Amino acid sequence: MTTDGAACQIGPSPTARAVRLDNVTARDAAALEALIQAVPAVPPYDMALAPGDPMGALAREAGFEPYATTVTVARAIEGLPAGEPADGVRLLTYSNDMAERYDDAEFDALDGLAIYKAMGRPTGYNQGAGYGDFTVALRGDHLIGFCFTQVPEGIIWWLGVVPEERRKGVARMLIDSAARATRTSGGTHLLAEVEDTPEARAFFSALGFRERGTRELLIRR
Ligand SMILES: CC(C)(COP(=O)(O)OP(=O)(O)OC[C@H]1O[C@@H](n2cnc3c(N)ncnc32)[C@H](O)[C@@H]1OP(=O)(O)O)[C@@H](O)C(=O)NCCC(=O)NCCS
Repeated sequence: MTTDGAACQIGPSPTARAVRLDNVTARDAAALEALIQAVPAVPPYDMALAPGDPMGALAREAGFEPYATTVTVARAIEGLPAGEPADGVRLLTYSNDMAERYDDAEFDALDGLAIYKAMGRPTGYNQGAGYGDFTVALRGDHLIGFCFTQVPEGIIWWLGVVPEERRKGVARMLIDSAARATRTSGGTHLLAEVEDTPEARAFFSALGFRERGTRELLIRR
């Protein structure tokens, strides 16, 4: 949408229960405020800005507050190192009747992440069967990990493994599966924008993903 001296695109935020204002440009603080007032959806609103984006100062002036930092990582599917499957772990396509188990696993895996907090509980992924590739990892009946990927684009939107099952290769299995689903539907690359934590960086770097920059997430409630 465009108003006098300002413009943006509008959609659901992937990282908060909010309306995402994308590619925001505004001549000055007043133009940004007028743009926000014209958004045909109720707040909160959020933005994701690259470091040094001149919109950062204007957004703060307009009452946006930082709530998380993300790092974007990407790699070609070709050559993705294949890991050993984790002992006793199987992968299944998610179905919505797993919602209760899924919500518990999502909480255990993501509690503490600013993005998870901003999404609110439940996040809504528990109704995500049938959209994209949604794969879960199970040990027995216990849901221990999950990965939601948009195909064929190969965008990994939501990935987590419960703390007691980490460092056993579960997330690696989930990424292998996301890569297969993406390739089958014609995609060639995997891309993720994840909360910037040492574990996430270490994990994606171990799988040969390259960092493509960071973004600051800001919200106005
Ligand atoms: C990031 C995360 C998904 C990794 O899950 P995981 O099942 O432990 O990962 P894997 O066991 O498949 O790890 C594969 C390799 O990545 C690297 N790695 C993973 N976690 C690491 C850590 N905390 N520190 C250093 N290296 C790590 C290691 O090289 C590991 O191989 P190794 O254990 O043989 O050394 C998990 O830590 C998690 O759920 N974190 C919170 C949620 C999150 O950040 N999600 C991502 C974005 S939404």
